Amino acid sequence: MEICVVGAGWVGLATAVVLADLGHAVWLVEKETGKVELLRQGRPPLAEPGLAELFSRHFTAGRLRIVATSNSEAMGAALAGSTIFFICVGTPPAADGACDLRQVREAMDFLLPGLGPGKILAIRSTVPVGTAAKVAQQTAVVAPGTVVISNPEFLREGTAVHDARHPDRIILGVNKAREAQPLEELYRPLQAPILTCSWNTAEMTKYAANAFLAARISFMNEIAGLCQAVGADVTQVARGLGFDPRIGPHFLQAGIGFGGPCLGKDLNCLRWQGEQAGIALTLLQAAAEVNARLPRKAVDMLLGALGSLEGRRISIWGLTFKGGAYDLRESPALQVAALLEQEGASLSAYDPACLAGGNASFPSGLRLCQSPYAAVTGAEALAVLADWEEFRHINWPLVRDAMVNWVIFDGRNFLDRQLLEDIGFTYLAPGRPER
Ligand code: UGA
Repeated sequence: MEICVVGAGWVGLATAVVLADLGHAVWLVEKETGKVELLRQGRPPLAEPGLAELFSRHFTAGRLRIVATSNSEAMGAALAGSTIFFICVGTPPAADGACDLRQVREAMDFLLPGLGPGKILAIRSTVPVGTAAKVAQQTAVVAPGTVVISNPEFLREGTAVHDARHPDRIILGVNKAREAQPLEELYRPLQAPILTCSWNTAEMTKYAANAFLAARISFMNEIAGLCQAVGADVTQVARGLGFDPRIGPHFLQAGIGFGGPCLGKDLNCLRWQGEQAGIALTLLQAAAEVNARLPRKAVDMLLGALGSLEGRRISIWGLTFKGGAYDLRESPALQVAALLEQEGASLSAYDPACLAGGNASFPSGLRLCQSPYAAVTGAEALAVLADWEEFRHINWPLVRDAMVNWVIFDGRNFLDRQLLEDIGFTYLAPGRPER
């Protein structure tokens, strides 16, 4: 089948390579010239495990064709040839907490000439409840016969290709149940449960999933604050909770809070949708507030251990919003770094994702290093702020010997506390009492 995927971000790329891997011919449509150039060289414009290899294989085999929106001839061929169109463009936050749908509207403008009877338009982007219905109103006038489907994605950065290939579930929001059939067939080889529902229900399921994950993390971070005050260990509490099958072990990791381009944005947008509907989402409001306080708490813990931070040398490992994700957007680690800088600390940092440095969103005083060991040389404290796997396999005696004072802040509660304390570190972590 010929399929058109609009948007070469995480969602679009993961969707495109997996569909190509299933044997389909995929047109990948992108408007940014820089991205198009890279794609045409067979290289995806972002780092994601497994992506480059799969992309290059299917690009070389001709199953993945790259189309710049500016190329009207190629656009025409993609529109004429494709039966299914996936919208995978970004929906960044708007100033008032709403969702900026400009890229969706722009994608629609490009796609409308190719839509009509026998064509399916599937919205993968995260969009407020009611968007698919509005899109369907538009196609009913301009391209009647088009089937509109809300098909939210649940991919995580760092495992996006794996998640696209092995989804937990597939949600298909449709107007009439039989309209889901073409996508049910498309997705059948992925062997995931397929849930068919209304447009609004599908859109709400996506927001509820991300808001639930965010609230769960904030719940554990709130418990972590109490653990610290009363002398309990939040990591052991989480373990004790996780064995309960009604709770499960995932997303119970307390630390410096959730970040990234999705969880906070979707939580806020759901709150905004509540406001529009006159429904106060108090639990979600609290989840956002708990999360917002965590970077300051992290800095206060370091202040507690070091006294003043003025002129003190602090090393940071991990700047991305989580380990394994090559993405600095909404990273709590950057918030901690900015607060440390405000306190007058002198920062050196290492992150596996940004060895080259030069990213504009880094706090100005941050000195990026080429290795974790270089970053700790002469440091008085080390703050580990993203849970990269690499940090579990560190030569800790070497780190200790490079530092001048042995304080470590484990901002993600994932390091081996016993080992660190055994070799002389003072270990600090949210939700863990001092020993
Ligand atoms: C999230 C969802 O997990 C995906 O299902 C969803 O598809 C995606 O957003 C999206 O809407 O596109 P992602 O943003 O990649 O995926 O990140 P998560 O793995 O959810 O982590 C988000 C943040 O929560 C990170 O900063 C992470 O460090 C933090 N986190 C996660 C915790 O603080 N504790 C935990 O126990 C788990």
